[in-house]
Amino acid sequence: MDRLKIAVLISGRGSNLQALIDACAEPEFPAEIVLVISNREDAGGLDRAKEASIATEVIRLRDFDDRDLFDDALDARIRESGARLVCLAGFLWLLGEDFANAWRDRLINIHPSLLPAFKGLHVQAQAVEMGVRYSGCTVHFVRPELDDGPIIVQAVVPVFPGDDADSLSARILTQEHIIYPKAVRWIAEGRVRVSGEMVLISGTTTDEQILINPES
Ligand code: GRF
Repeated sequence: MDRLKIAVLISGRGSNLQALIDACAEPEFPAEIVLVISNREDAGGLDRAKEASIATEVIRLRDFDDRDLFDDALDARIRESGARLVCLAGFLWLLGEDFANAWRDRLINIHPSLLPAFKGLHVQAQAVEMGVRYSGCTVHFVRPELDDGPIIVQAVVPVFPGDDADSLSARILTQEHIIYPKAVRWIAEGRVRVSGEMVLISGTTTDEQILINPES
C-alpha cells in the first residue's frame, strides 16, 4: 500500500499528534507521519514523536529575520521530507499567505469550535461565556485568513450548565482525537475534493461527516 506522507506541525503537548501517531500505527491506515516540526523546543509533542521514532525538527521564529523567512524554512523542510499533506495540530502561528497558497488544499488544521463560530484563541472559554448550547471541533483546509477554509469534518458536543473552559475543552478534545485521523484517512484515500469553498467527500455517510455526540 502506498501511504500518504504527512508532516505534522505542533507547538505544545501534542495530543492530536498522538491521535495521528496511533492511527498511523494501524497496518491498514493509508498515511504515515514522516516529520514533526515544532516552533517551540519545549513542546511536549516532540517527545511523543521521538517515542514513535518519527523525525523531528525545531524551527523557531526568533532564528529568522522576518516571518516570511521562517515560513520559507518550514516549507523547505517539509518538501525535503517528501510530505504531501501538512497537518497543523496545535501549531500556534498564523502561516503567511504564500505558505497557505503554496499548500492550498494540502494543508489542514484542527480547531476546537464549530467554525465559523469562535475563531482565534481561548475559543472554549468564549463558547462558555456566550452561553452556546452546543460546541465542538472542526477539521478544515487552511486559507490565509485565521481559522478559515473549507470544512472537512465536524463533531458536536453539548455545553452543560456549570461547564467551564476546562471541562468543555476536555469534552471537545476527545472528539478532536476521533475526527482528525478520520479526515486524514479520507484525504489519503483520495475521497476528498474541494469544490468552490465546499468539501465533497465520496463514499462516506452524512453521519460519518457530522459527528453528533449528545452522550459525551
Ligand atoms: C487543540 O485543542 C486543537 O484543536 C487546537 O490546539 C489544541 C492542541 O492540543 N488547535 P494538542 O497539542 O493537540 O494536545
